[in-house]
Amino acid sequence: MSPVSMQDYHIFDGHGMIHAVHFLGDEEGATYARRYVRTQALQFEESEGQCLYTGMKKMLPQFPTFFRLLFEKYFGSSGSTDSPYWVIQNRNPANNGCTVHAGRVLATWEAGWAYELRLPDLETLGLFDYEGTWPDGAVTDNCSAHGKQDPETGQFITISYNMIELPPWLRVITASADGALEKSVKVPLPSGAALLHDFGITQRRVILNVGPLNLVPLKMVSGAPPFDFDFSAKCYFGILSRSSDSADDVIWVEAENCFNFHVLNAYDDPTDPGRVIVHTFRQDYTLGLGMGSKLNEETRRSPHGRRLQGDTAVLHRWVIDVSAAKVVESTRLHQPPADPRRSKRRKVRRESPTIP
Ligand SMILES: [Fe+2]
Repeated sequence: MSPVSMQDYHIFDGHGMIHAVHFLGDEEGATYARRYVRTQALQFEESEGQCLYTGMKKMLPQFPTFFRLLFEKYFGSSGSTDSPYWVIQNRNPANNGCTVHAGRVLATWEAGWAYELRLPDLETLGLFDYEGTWPDGAVTDNCSAHGKQDPETGQFITISYNMIELPPWLRVITASADGALEKSVKVPLPSGAALLHDFGITQRRVILNVGPLNLVPLKMVSGAPPFDFDFSAKCYFGILSRSSDSADDVIWVEAENCFNFHVLNAYDDPTDPGRVIVHTFRQDYTLGLGMGSKLNEETRRSPHGRRLQGDTAVLHRWVIDVSAAKVVESTRLHQPPADPRRSKRRKVRRESPTIP
């Protein structure tokens, strides 16, 4: 459901739905179920019988919804709103990611709070509020699309961010294995109001990932695509020890202009404790699947061979010397086909492979 035209429709505008396959055993097979996440926005639109929010590409306010959301955020009780105060028009559709933590399913949307669902019936239980231990209600923060669970400690680590306050900031949030808040560290960003989609964790560190896709509020209120990708700006990795409680301990490391929407893996270098290795899906640039415009494109460089179109992602390896605050290796791990449409037409080899 969206009031915007198909031309302005973003692929993340739809309401989130969780699909679940339960494996019952060798003899009994499996069951399949799916359910919409019963978000506040879904229930609001169902009760009104119409679409009431704008989409991600065009954030022009629809005033009846705008004023209602604004009132709820400023005067509502804790938990009455599912996104921070600066998200005043978009719905939280809980459709970005899905994480399992402490026996609960979390459906996430990165500019709002996670929704908690019950297993196995996928009933929506409400907002994930860290077992009631979050101090400020849900008014100021959000929950990253891709929170991480430490497989050894069971801790859940996520980030939230704020694109409106000056300077823009992010928060590194750590919850215990049973879901209670352990700590949150508020970190000022080194550059603009960046869209922060993903991050990494290692045994000892959190790896923050800040690219130059920045919100421009004036464009947002004028109805233009609200983000700019700045080809002249740096990209940053921020390294924070997981044992630290202070933003002063973040080590910011400059990297080449690019965008890393997703972090595939990160680990402390077993041969050098001062280094971390990060694998990302690196893009030459991104316009957020239609949410942005190019800025300073004449400064674009191509340090890794063939230029990529926006939103084409390639596996990339970064080696970061933390103590020197420097990227010491940046390697594209494969070259994409020149024309993806041609690669689909490749003939299948008929002969059997030769095994040496
Ligand atoms: Fe994602």
